[in-house]
Amino acid sequence: CELGHIYACANIGIIGGSGFDEPGLFENPVERVVSTPFGNPSDVLLEGVIKGVPCVILARHGRKHQFQPSDVNYRANIWALKEVGCTHVLATTATGSLHEDYQPGSLVVVDDFIDRTWGRKCTFYDRTEGGPKGVCHLPMSPAFCEVARNALSTAARARNYPCHHKGTIVTIQGPRFSSRAESLMHRQWGGHLVNMTTVPEVVLAKEAGLSYAAVALVTDYDCWRDNEKSVCVSDVLEAFAKNVKKAADVIVDAIQILAASTDHPYLTAHKELVTSAIMLKE
Ligand code: ADE
Repeated sequence: CELGHIYACANIGIIGGSGFDEPGLFENPVERVVSTPFGNPSDVLLEGVIKGVPCVILARHGRKHQFQPSDVNYRANIWALKEVGCTHVLATTATGSLHEDYQPGSLVVVDDFIDRTWGRKCTFYDRTEGGPKGVCHLPMSPAFCEVARNALSTAARARNYPCHHKGTIVTIQGPRFSSRAESLMHRQWGGHLVNMTTVPEVVLAKEAGLSYAAVALVTDYDCWRDNEKSVCVSDVLEAFAKNVKKAADVIVDAIQILAASTDHPYLTAHKELVTSAIMLKE
């Protein structure tokens, strides 16, 4: 919290994916319109308090789900959350499963990604006016914040929810789903999950020096299984609706865990990593 700053009390950002656009986690949210050097975020930021912790919710696709995955302004979303004072971002995402053991209905605290997107703006360091200066070569291992991941895992364990505490997610460009050959290839590559949004969101959060972790909700088996019908939107939405409470509970509990910790060197480390990754040329 920066006292005296207009956005004094925003701390933990929550990016809600498909099915989590209006999660109803706040009783009386305050709507905040924020614009950034990179354009406008997907929607207003909803500010409020969850069990005493100041939080901000943003619907990744907009509350009317108006932005398809490749049209989401990921840069504006992350910049806006940082601008209002967020130190952490916890995200939800609907995902297909590429592995028999990752069953629909379960949660996954993702720990790595494979990028199969193209043409998305995936750095703040591109000389946009009002943006940061230099060129940023950011290490991407580990991709997600281990402290935030641990908080999500601890929360899922305490609730006894079916949860995998690791998993590699393949982010495809969309908006179409994968072909069967692609799905089989993603499996061979070692992917456990497939979605359309984790990249560049995780990359930009890391560039912004934020603690970022995602809880994936498995909604389907994509299309790699023999003799089984291929994923479709209605299946994804139905499975998400059935299990969304688990993701919401885990996020709310993880927020408590993160807020209870007073030991924050990892937040400094996130910022220092970015500083060390910037090459500046006069
Ligand atoms: N989101 C949910 N299920 C998915 C799938 N099978 N492929 C890509 N994104 C998804």
